[in-house]
Amino acid sequence: MKIIGIIASPHKEGNTAWAVNKILEGAKGRGAETRSWSFSDLDISPCRGCLCCHDGSDRGCVIDDDMQELYDALDDADAIILGSPVYMGQMSAQAKIFTDRLFAKISPRFSPHYKEKVTKQKLVLVFTQGNPDPGMFREYFDYTKKMFRMLEFDVKDVVVIAGMREKPAHEHKDLLTAMNKVGSSLVSE
Ligand SMILES: Cc1cc2nc3c(=O)[nH]c(=O)nc-3n(C[C@H](O)[C@H](O)[C@H](O)COP(=O)(O)O)c2cc1C
Repeated sequence: MKIIGIIASPHKEGNTAWAVNKILEGAKGRGAETRSWSFSDLDISPCRGCLCCHDGSDRGCVIDDDMQELYDALDDADAIILGSPVYMGQMSAQAKIFTDRLFAKISPRFSPHYKEKVTKQKLVLVFTQGNPDPGMFREYFDYTKKMFRMLEFDVKDVVVIAGMREKPAHEHKDLLTAMNKVGSSLVSE
């Protein structure tokens, strides 16, 4: 099983990166092949809305940036862990850019792959937030889950890591075990 992590945070070693990588570690422990990318290392532009990816050709997205590497990785992945910090009650701008660029995945370039694949790609959404109440942005998280389901992802889990204002993720007791478990159960499902 191939699982990729997308860390849509400007911090390479922040809370979101920690959580995504611990989930991947849990999956790796169960034999999954894992890799992660951090937006801190990537140059990815917003969707231009040119619709070239939907013009009937198989060229996919025409923007020549680091998203092309992610398209290849996405094409190959059985499961995706998408992590984002909560910014102003929503996903980060990086996560939104990534999500918008998924529009090209519905293009002919990807359709042979999806026709062959009977199962949908699994997706785990991971949000980290400063606020200590994990229910604070519940409506937004539910909406986001629904939106990714509409994009044909099999959303397995929405992990909300709250209380980052108080102390960073790696200092929160029990989080390590919880994250590893999210990863390992993704493989055993
Ligand atoms: C611009 C900005 C906006 C934020 N907005 C919120 C928010 O609306 N609610 C919240 O609970 N935390 C908010 N936070 C805190 C982050 O979500 C939190 O610190 C997160 O864990 C950071 O993740 P990172 O370490 O991966 O960057 C905000 C932080 C920043 C920088």
